[in-house]
Amino acid sequence: METNKKKSKRAVRERADEIKPFRCKNLIAVIEDPTDIKNIGTVIRNANALGVEKVYVVDPRGALPDDWQEMRERKSISRSSVSAVKWTFVKRFDSTNDCLEHLEKKDFISVVTSPHVKGKTNVFLHEGNYKQHTKLAVWFGNEKRGISELAVKRCEMCIAIPMFGMIESLNLGTSSGIILYEITKQRREYQSQFRRGRRKGKRAEPLATEMTRQE
Ligand SMILES: C[S@@+](CC[C@H](N)C(=O)[O-])C[C@H]1O[C@@H](n2cnc3c(N)ncnc32)[C@H](O)[C@@H]1O
Repeated sequence: METNKKKSKRAVRERADEIKPFRCKNLIAVIEDPTDIKNIGTVIRNANALGVEKVYVVDPRGALPDDWQEMRERKSISRSSVSAVKWTFVKRFDSTNDCLEHLEKKDFISVVTSPHVKGKTNVFLHEGNYKQHTKLAVWFGNEKRGISELAVKRCEMCIAIPMFGMIESLNLGTSSGIILYEITKQRREYQSQFRRGRRKGKRAEPLATEMTRQE
């Protein structure tokens, strides 16, 4: 007879297989110098829920351990991400430059997010096309200072959620949810129709873009 432990392990494995085709490969969310662990947890949770492949954290204060295994065991991150850190790979960097170099070496194109006009190309979230680059890194800035000049300089465009209130900006966790929702939606639509990489081209049958919800 199957024990409860084995049953729940099997259920987890089944869920992991089920979500796999919906994940957005080569999409990374980058958080630059976040100060609040709750915001780090929320971004990891959003990334996991929306199917973002990885989260990178620029962490010059050394608030996070270097190793993902250790992060998974750190209560503050596990709690604030409601255990999403167990399932979504997180990597930390000492500086913005280190992170940009790592991404550029792997041919990732970076885009920044800000409520303000920054750099060369500025788009409102709903106007942007987030499908044209195979590898995309989406940067979110510090809670007070926002995104750094260095990140802006090395990024292709700046995405803004239109603001209609008296306040300057949205919270980091909230804005990451809204922005990653639109980007993952577009990329899933693309990935359902086209293959990337060596076997690139239109698929004979489009893949599903939505999962059936459970009761
Ligand atoms: C609390 S905001 C930082 C506000 C900061 N004073 C500034 O000048 O950007 C933290 C981060 O959330 C994201 N963010 C907040 N509101 C946004 C908006 N309306 N559009 C795009 N990103 C936004 C950006 O990544 C920003 O760096």
